[in-house]
Amino acid sequence: MKIAFFEVNEEEKKEYFSQNLAGHNVEFFEQALGENFVPDHTDFEIISIFVGSKLNQTVIDAFPNLKSITVRATGFDNVDIGYAKSKSIVVCNVPAYGSNTVAEFTFGLILSLTRKIPQASYRLKLSEEFSFEGLRGFDLNGKTLGVIGTGKIGNNVIKIAKGFNMNIVAMDPHPNEEFAKTAGFSYVSLDELLRNSDIVTIHVPLMEQTQHLLNKDNIVFMKKGSLLINTSRGAIVDTDALAKALIQEQLAGAALDVLEEEGELKEEIELLTLNKIPPEDYKKIIEDHILIHLPNVIITPHMAFYTKEAEFSIMETTVKNIKSALSGTPENLV
Ligand code: NAI
Repeated sequence: MKIAFFEVNEEEKKEYFSQNLAGHNVEFFEQALGENFVPDHTDFEIISIFVGSKLNQTVIDAFPNLKSITVRATGFDNVDIGYAKSKSIVVCNVPAYGSNTVAEFTFGLILSLTRKIPQASYRLKLSEEFSFEGLRGFDLNGKTLGVIGTGKIGNNVIKIAKGFNMNIVAMDPHPNEEFAKTAGFSYVSLDELLRNSDIVTIHVPLMEQTQHLLNKDNIVFMKKGSLLINTSRGAIVDTDALAKALIQEQLAGAALDVLEEEGELKEEIELLTLNKIPPEDYKKIIEDHILIHLPNVIITPHMAFYTKEAEFSIMETTVKNIKSALSGTPENLV
């Protein structure tokens, strides 16, 4: 079988996939697959992508022999699933790879905002002044955390929040009442969650129903001085509405691991890299993004998943997904 992996540049990963798929013809591409990059030869039966690739109808049609798409992530909003299914192409993902990983990172972001840790470190390094002036934070103890989406990651966030003695309210169209009872939290409507939470954190998949779930009409319900954390997908929050709420100081801050325009941002940066444009210019492009200018915003480059343990789990499940697709009994279908 001819198998292509996109968005793979580390030797460690190449070795792992080559060894575990020995006997197959495996090729690796560092680039993300999408309209901007399709390889010269496209006779692959299986392709494996990560979050930077975008598989629309045109890209899927470019692979005449395609039988299976393996997404090395939980979110699969970057693949036109309906179209793939209409062509009998099997699509699978990695449904869980240590849901604690993203939950732990979520708390890293929360504490970074509430205790101003990045600013403190940056200021000290820059000025060498050992002072806490202007860096007063606030406790999590007794505050209310609003969790949008109580799936695998949301539930781990709730468990950690309980350790901080936070009150929890949650929203999910498929409430897990049993977990709510044992963990000690209640489900409320989205409006109620926004009105009552000191910190709101989002853990839902991106799909038609969740695109701009947080928008100009409901972001106004958020408590004055509250914080927003998004580690799910950028397009779940309307960037303009968020920027306005931050500029008008209705929100005291936001921490975002994902951006609505991150695909475009990444593509622009990749193109610049290929043309060997100096790093000062990448900075300009990144700074284009309205949110990056705001002092009360922390942005990380879609890295909540990125730990040694989670990466290994992703590689392991990907190999299983490919082997099961090859044997005709595909697992982790989406
Ligand atoms: P999951 O499938 O276990 O849970 C998602 C939950 O969202 C489900 O309980 C579902 O009922 C709920 N949901 C669906 N529509 C909703 C709506 N309209 N309002 C509120 N809740 C809704 O998924 P999991 O593993 O918890 O992951 C969540 C998302 O996190 C993924 O879809 C992915 O986009 C993102 N993610 C981000 C990573 C990163 O590195 N930043 C890494 C891994 C996942």
